[in-house]
Amino acid sequence: MAVDVLLGLQWGDEGKGKIVDVLAPQYDLIARFQGGPNAGHTLEFDGKKFVLNTIPSGIFEKHTMNLIGNGVVIDPIILKKEIEKLKEAGHDLLTKKNLMIARKAHLILPTHQLLDASSEKKMGDGKIGSTLKGIGPTYMDKTGRNGLRVGDINLPDFKEKYQKLVEKHLSILSNYGEVDDFSEKEKAFFDALELLKKFPHVDSEHLVAKYLKEGKKVLAEGAQGTMLDIDFGSYPFVTSSNTTTAGACTGLGIAPNKIGEVIGIFKAYCTRVGGGPFPTELDNEIGEELRKIGHEFGATTGRPRRTGWIDLPALKYAIMLNGVTQLVMTKADVLSGFDKIYACTHYKYDGELIDYMPYDICTIQPEPIYEEIDGWKEDLTGIREVSEIPAKLQNYIDYLEKHLEVPVKYLSVGPDRLQTLILN
Ligand code: GDP
Ligand code: IMO
Ligand code: MG
Repeated sequence: MAVDVLLGLQWGDEGKGKIVDVLAPQYDLIARFQGGPNAGHTLEFDGKKFVLNTIPSGIFEKHTMNLIGNGVVIDPIILKKEIEKLKEAGHDLLTKKNLMIARKAHLILPTHQLLDASSEKKMGDGKIGSTLKGIGPTYMDKTGRNGLRVGDINLPDFKEKYQKLVEKHLSILSNYGEVDDFSEKEKAFFDALELLKKFPHVDSEHLVAKYLKEGKKVLAEGAQGTMLDIDFGSYPFVTSSNTTTAGACTGLGIAPNKIGEVIGIFKAYCTRVGGGPFPTELDNEIGEELRKIGHEFGATTGRPRRTGWIDLPALKYAIMLNGVTQLVMTKADVLSGFDKIYACTHYKYDGELIDYMPYDICTIQPEPIYEEIDGWKEDLTGIREVSEIPAKLQNYIDYLEKHLEVPVKYLSVGPDRLQTLILN
């Protein structure tokens, strides 16, 4: 058996949560492998809507276990809120016993968030546009070998370790100016750790290996998107983890030869939230229309998402980096009614036509070169059969498959679980 991976191919918010929820019945374990509560994964079914930040999107499927992997950074306060909200909605995870947490996952401290805020403030106009959840500073402590992990919370000297790290943070923060009072947050942090202790703490590498040995099916769930990858994204306008398939290997403890299908998700157009380059951005009425029809506002921060046409050089890059074997196209319904839609096939860069992401995309804005494609008028949201797909949408799918050289296996035509078609 091998682990399938599902991840975003653009700048995040491609609809990962929805598709993981749709696929969950086929899997025994859904495992988040990186990121933290900067993620907002939206699921809709039975007229209800849930946004998950840290908890894997398989949590609503009766027979599926869920794991928060070692590559994830956990804010215990946010995780507690997520757990409590789910309980209020009738999904008590402690009773259902369907959530496990990796011992090696790192903890986001209240002071990590203060550091995130101060760092962004200092950068002024050049800021990353972080979700301010403390993601960057927590991964910095992880790689700097200072971090605190879930497994540490049971150690007798945890409080001392915590204090030592907070003191380090305070000394850095003092360089930025006055430090906000965080005593309430600190209280909430320790309170939330008590809830964290009630869930099974596991070694994700052994757990996943055991599942595979027993012939069980595992899906690794990514957060953010490939273009936000710390190594290969639009650096420095990225997040602080590897959002790519390689991140699933390190974020769960899977050997590369144990990776199976790689399911890459993209929107029928493109969005980005926060700062940084976005070659196909439409800073005009069309962009505004896409935002309005697509409800393009961040699931975590509520910020308006920047919108634009589909970017094929960026998608091809993401497919190459991840070894994508199947594609999922979401939000096709949002494009209904546009007379013409546009696909960026190349960039004009330094006087030449190129079809890859240049190194200095942050300093030299490449000019997108588009091909025009006929749009479709039909409302797609009620479509449940492949035979009902309008010819012009099929033409768009064929066009994308030709350029991307990977089959589009799933098509999403609305936010609900049921608004999903299997194509190939
Ligand atoms: P994620 O972070 O990749 O899980 O994506 P988000 O949940 O942040 O953003 C995707 C948004 O689009 C959510 O509001 C989803 O409910 C919604 N969504 C997902 N698929 C579709 C679709 O096919 N059509 C429409 N209209 N909305 C969708
Ligand atoms: P999901 O999983 C979209 C963006 C932020 C910012 C940059 C760095 O829902 O797709 P960070 O908080 O990591 O320091 O922010 O990354 N970002 C996301 N954009 N979807 C996400 O997650 C994101 N997580 C972070 O807006 O530009
Ligand atoms: Mg999201």
